[in-house]
Amino acid sequence: MTSHLTVLNHPLVQHKLTLMRKKETPSSTFRQLLWETSMLLAYGVTDDLPLVEVTIDTPVCRTRSPILAGKKLALISILRAGNGLLDGILEVIPAARVGFVGMYRDEETLEPVEYYCKVPAELENRLVIAVDPMLATGNSSVAAIDRLKKEGASEIRLLCLLAAPEGVARMKEAHPDVPIFTASLDEKLNEHGYIVPGLGDAGDRMFGTQS
Ligand code: URA
Repeated sequence: MTSHLTVLNHPLVQHKLTLMRKKETPSSTFRQLLWETSMLLAYGVTDDLPLVEVTIDTPVCRTRSPILAGKKLALISILRAGNGLLDGILEVIPAARVGFVGMYRDEETLEPVEYYCKVPAELENRLVIAVDPMLATGNSSVAAIDRLKKEGASEIRLLCLLAAPEGVARMKEAHPDVPIFTASLDEKLNEHGYIVPGLGDAGDRMFGTQS
């Protein structure tokens, strides 16, 4: 049984995360670091995927060797910041199907508003990995996962770069069946809904925009 929260604290992940947190890190470097980190996070979130042995012929002999078994993967990017994690994960899981759920956060209410949804067919037969760099209030992740469940998804994992305790608690309450994988459980949310110490607005850091 996967635990509800897994912190992927590999030294390479932690080092890259520190560089991403620094406010002077420019967008181009931030994107590169996020791309590198997402490949390492992909390793963590798929750590327990089942394998089955098959018979193959190497140039030297016939042997038994493992390949992935079980459900096919679907990666769902929670827009817009999810795309920053998506590309790196696709480098290492190129056969995954990809979907998008567009959520923006109303800056006054902090409530999520859906503006786009396009997901692969037969989500019920796939292991769905939803990606969103920042699990802050948890409102948009909860809403996106509500939507994925309506689309048929039944086995879902949430992968984020940073998580706030408030977001983890909200997810646990709304979706106790969805394990969360993150590079760091940060201290708290501030009064503006930002993760502390965090890294600021992930979308802005990635794309060089400002809210
Ligand atoms: N979204 C972000 O991009 N950053 C935060 O700190 C919280 C939500």
